[in-house]
Parts: sequence; C-alpha cells; structure tokens
Amino acid sequence: MADRVLITTDDLEHAVRINAQLEAAGFETTLTSSQDDVRHAVQRRDPDCIILTGGLHDAPAAHLIALAHDRSVSTLGLVEATEPDATGLARRVGLTAWLFKPVDPDEAVGTVRRLLERRRLQQRTGIIGESPAIQEVLVKIEQMAPVTATVLIEGESGTGKELVARAIHDLSPRRGKPFIAVNCAALPDTLLESELFGHEKGSFTGATERRLGRFELADTGTILLDEVGEMAPATQVKLLRVLEDRTFFRVGGVQPIKVDVRVIAATNKPIKEAVTLGEFRDDLFYRLNVLHIDLPPLRERRADIPILVRRFIAEFAAAHERQFRGITPEALQILVDAEWPGNVRQLRNLVESMVVLAPGGEIRANDIPPDIREHGRGLPVRVLGPARDVPGRELEFIFRSLVELKLQVEDLRRRLEDRPHRVEVIEVGHGAPVTPIEAEVGADTEVLYRRGMSMADVERATIEAALRETKGNRRKAAELLGIGERTLYRKLKEYALV
Ligand SMILES: Nc1ncnc2c1ncn2[C@@H]1O[C@H](COP(=O)(O)OP(=O)(O)OP(=O)(O)O)[C@@H](O)[C@H]1O
Ligand SMILES: [Mg+2]
Repeated sequence: MADRVLITTDDLEHAVRINAQLEAAGFETTLTSSQDDVRHAVQRRDPDCIILTGGLHDAPAAHLIALAHDRSVSTLGLVEATEPDATGLARRVGLTAWLFKPVDPDEAVGTVRRLLERRRLQQRTGIIGESPAIQEVLVKIEQMAPVTATVLIEGESGTGKELVARAIHDLSPRRGKPFIAVNCAALPDTLLESELFGHEKGSFTGATERRLGRFELADTGTILLDEVGEMAPATQVKLLRVLEDRTFFRVGGVQPIKVDVRVIAATNKPIKEAVTLGEFRDDLFYRLNVLHIDLPPLRERRADIPILVRRFIAEFAAAHERQFRGITPEALQILVDAEWPGNVRQLRNLVESMVVLAPGGEIRANDIPPDIREHGRGLPVRVLGPARDVPGRELEFIFRSLVELKLQVEDLRRRLEDRPHRVEVIEVGHGAPVTPIEAEVGADTEVLYRRGMSMADVERATIEAALRETKGNRRKAAELLGIGERTLYRKLKEYALV
C-alpha cells in the first residue's frame, strides 16, 4: 500500500510542486489548507507523514503537529529562508525535520522517504523521541544491528539501555534467537560466574546438578551484560577470554565450551572512570567498547518529554481502559521542566500512575506529585550520587503498587456498589483530610481512592494499610510494599506516622 502524505497549502506554490513530485514517486497525497478542519483530514486520511508548507509560528500548525505526535506521524516543515533560528523553531513546535525554502521537490521526496523509514524503525523498536540525540541513537542501532561486533551502551538508570539492546537484537539477523539479559551487579562474584558460565555437578557446595550458564543459553543469540562496570576482577578476566575466542569453562569444568553469542554491555556509571581508578580492566574495556552508544539523560533532551508523555498517556489509557483526554498545557510544562533523576522509566511510571489516579480524565498540574513539581529547572540541580542511588527502581515499586492498588480499589468499589444495602460508600470531598476508607466486607486493608486525594495521600494510606496488615511490623510492611525498610522509615517520618 502506498504511503500517504498530507500537505498543507499555506504556501500554495510549494505545496503544488511537492505534491506533483510525491505523486510521481508513488505516494498517495492529499492537499489541505491548515485553516481547514485539518483534524478531520488527518482522521479521514490517516497519513504517514505531514508536510507543513508554512505558518509554522501559528496556532493551527501547533495543533496539527500535536495531532501528528499523538498518532506518531512525522512532520516536515518548510522554513522561510529568513527564519533566524530554524533549529529553535523546529524544537519549539516539535517538527521532526525541516527544509529551507526554496525547497527542491526531489529533496522533499527524499526527506519524506527517510522520515517514513525512521518511523517504521521506531514502531518496530518502541523507541520514542524526536530529539537529535534519539535520532542519532536510531541511526546507530540500524548501523550496528547487522554486524556481530560488541556494543557498549552507556547511560543513567532508566534512559533506555535495555530497550536499545533489544532493538539491536530484534533488527539483527539473530532476531528470533535468544536474547538473555544478566544484571552483573545483582549477584555476588562467585554466583555471577556460575550464572554466566554455568557449573558442573559437585563443583561447589550446593551444586547438585550441572547447570548451563547464560552464555550457553544465549548461544546463536545475544547476551546483555547489564551494569558490567560492577563485575569483579576475576570475572572480568573470564569475560575477556570469552570475548577473545568465544570459549569458556563451566565452573568446575575441564571441557572448553564454544558459543556464538553477540555481546552487548550496558553501564549506568561512566566505565572510563572505573578504568582510570583501576577497578575495570582497560583491555576488557576496549574489547567491549568496539561500538558505542551514549544515551543522554532525559533532562538533556527535554524536547522529547511532550511526545513521551502523550504516547504513554495513550498507551496506559488503553491498557487500563480509561477514557482519558490528555494533559493540560500547564501540567505538561511542569513535566518538561522537572529534573527526572530516574529518566524515562520514572516519567513512564509517573504517567501510568497519573492516568490511573488522576480524577477528571485529564492530567492537571495538581495531579503531579509535589516532589516532581518542586524539582523544576529553576532550582539548583541536585547532585546525583552513584547511579544505584537513583530512585528510579524504588519509585517504580511505589508507582506500581499505587496503580495496582487503584485497580483493586475500583474493583472493590464496583463490588460495593453492587451491594448498596450492606455498605455505605463515603464520599470524601476535595481537599478533605486523608482517610483510608474501610469497607465492612472484611477488607480492612483495602484503601479507597477518593476525589481530592493526592499521590502523597494515597501513599500514606497505603502505608497505613500495610502496617495494619502486618500488625505494625515494619520489616514485613516494607516487604509487602516492595520498598526498603529504610525507605519505609523515611516515609513514616515524612507522614508523621511515628
Ligand atoms: N526512548 C524511549 N521511548 C520509549 N520508552 C522508553 C524510552 N527509553 C526508555 N523507555 C522505557 O523506560 C523504561 C526503562 O528503560 P530501560 O529498562 O531500557 O532503561 P535502562 O537504561 O536499562 O535502566 P537501568 O539502568 O535502570 O537498567 C522501560 O519501560 C522502557 O521501555
Ligand atoms: Mg537496564
């Protein structure tokens, strides 16, 4: 099926010439005035690409581009030659690409082709982002996928390292073969060795059976060595050997084992520093760093935040079957300005929780938790400790618990409403004090969300419920909530529960 291109007629002369060239190249085109009901045109024609021939500073163009973002449609803007800052303009309005007028129609066709190819790549990989940094990453993924050379991916926690590693695997000839991820920081040294290379029966206490390691399991596929910078020196030597000739021994084994595995390594702390400090072998570093991808933190590519937010809203509204209108401009600005120490993971989890928790079917400024609101760009940037202190994963647990809780609560509410004679549903008004509402039906640990409760309120109520469940045992309560005991303690203090 031919790709469809929608062309606005703000600059009729350009529109007509480019239209003719695109048609000749086999595209299905539609000309539409941007003053027209473009929304209708977009919905009816479902284009794959939109060319805005002018009016880039005006509101209709902004609407059209927002609409395009929602549908992950690429936009090409034709910029006046007199425009002083085309890059700034393109970033502000969210164009995917732009060309200076006068535009050669052939060049326009070539650009549309490239945009469409990239869009297909993004759809296949799930990597969202229009910033030059992400575009560069996508180009690298395409270049690196077909070869077997080792790739080192560097980036803070939650920047998408695993997503990128999977994309490389999925676009490589190894797709359909195993993709195995190992977190090198999660296991003590000896266990990591047996995890990676396997062990023979009786090779150490507890080794009651022969066990295949991850390298063997990944044979013919790809292995992702996550947090490779945390690997102990002895394991580093063994890894070096595998990288050199793809052979290794199981722990306690005498037979060399040969595998065909593509290695991708990831690290969320700069590995060069570890090399300088003598914690990481430089020969191993060079072996891993044959190809390199840097994933910049989200705060350095804020232009991607609106599109990420919109796409996550659409994804979670569908997943949780919620009617959701979107986000107010004010709320979006707060998210664009926030600090995001946990990067895309943190943003994604927050959007999910807000889609589930926000009353009114729309994310408003008040729905955003205070700690996000208060760490905007205007404030001094917090100095981050080592990446493992980044609260990304911890937040993930909290958000996930909240989301699950909300769904359970809705379920409970439905059940209560089915039996109105037994239970009185108490409505808590806007801004009312926090009251976890307990129903009669033996659900004394269920927390109900009510209009007016903030994330903090729900969190506090959740903690109270967990403590009731565990009869005040903090260790067990922390376990139930999937957070550390120290975090729980901090929160108890924060909510004056101690
Ligand atoms: N550019 C992106 N587009 C869409 N989703 C993204 C993007 N980057 C990250 N994500 C999502 O954010 C979450 C975290 O990504 P991922 O697990 O790849 O991060 P990571 O860098 O491996 O983090 P960690 O260092 O903590 O292991 C995932 O849900 C992933 O799908
Ligand atoms: Mg990861």
